[in-house]
Amino acid sequence: MHLVILTGAGISAESGLGTFRDKAGLWTRFSLEEVATPQGFAANPDLVHDFYNQRRSDLLQAVPHEGHRALRRLEEALADRMIIVTQNVDDLHERAGSQRVLHMHGQLRRVWCTHCDSRFDWDDDASVRSRCPQCGQIGSLRPDVVWFGEVPYHMEEIADHLDRATHFISIGTSGQVYPAAGFVAEVKARGAHTTELNLEKSSSLFDVCEEGRASEIVPRWVDAMLAQI
Ligand code: APR
Repeated sequence: MHLVILTGAGISAESGLGTFRDKAGLWTRFSLEEVATPQGFAANPDLVHDFYNQRRSDLLQAVPHEGHRALRRLEEALADRMIIVTQNVDDLHERAGSQRVLHMHGQLRRVWCTHCDSRFDWDDDASVRSRCPQCGQIGSLRPDVVWFGEVPYHMEEIADHLDRATHFISIGTSGQVYPAAGFVAEVKARGAHTTELNLEKSSSLFDVCEEGRASEIVPRWVDAMLAQI
């Protein structure tokens, strides 16, 4: 048995963090071209820093819910027979105790110095006036998140897990953004069992789809999984 669990913004919604494409989602209030592309950052770094500073500040106020904690319980039972691949840049999985988490879109509580290529944990506001702790350069820090048009992180490791997957579970993602949106077809072609746990069904590719809020349906699904192990 090898479980690959893909999570998206929907698993963090009940912790108070915004999703992207729901009504009132982030992309209904901000232009992703302006705040989530390298071109947008080059054109207006202050706007982009402000966008991520606000999201980082919201994240520091957020707490994991029963859905995150249920996935930690599953990891305690499965250990290296399970991986969480998250599209989320929040650290709610880690704060719930999950240790096997791959952030394919980077992390909100980290910054990247484009001058010396170092990366750092970072909980303060960042700006064009911020100084790199490593090289001392001012104005070279950016959020360590993957923007549209950039290559997601950990893709080789993710491909290895997808190769080995016997079960693929998609939680809280609309399945609109590749490469994550292509994972279900990839594992299904190899005979893996596929489950979606989401507020609403996003694709006909899943063998099982449970609709509901993550804080309710994820613990229920984990309990059923633990009973099978
Ligand atoms: N419980 C379960 N699912 C929920 C909940 C909830 N409480 N609230 C919303 N959802 C579902 C929505 O129905 C939707 O299908 O979560 C999904 C959120 O979809 P998106 O907002 O598109 O977020 P996501 O799929 O994670 O976006 C993928 O797009 O903009 C990029 O980098 C960004 O990582 C993000 C990627």
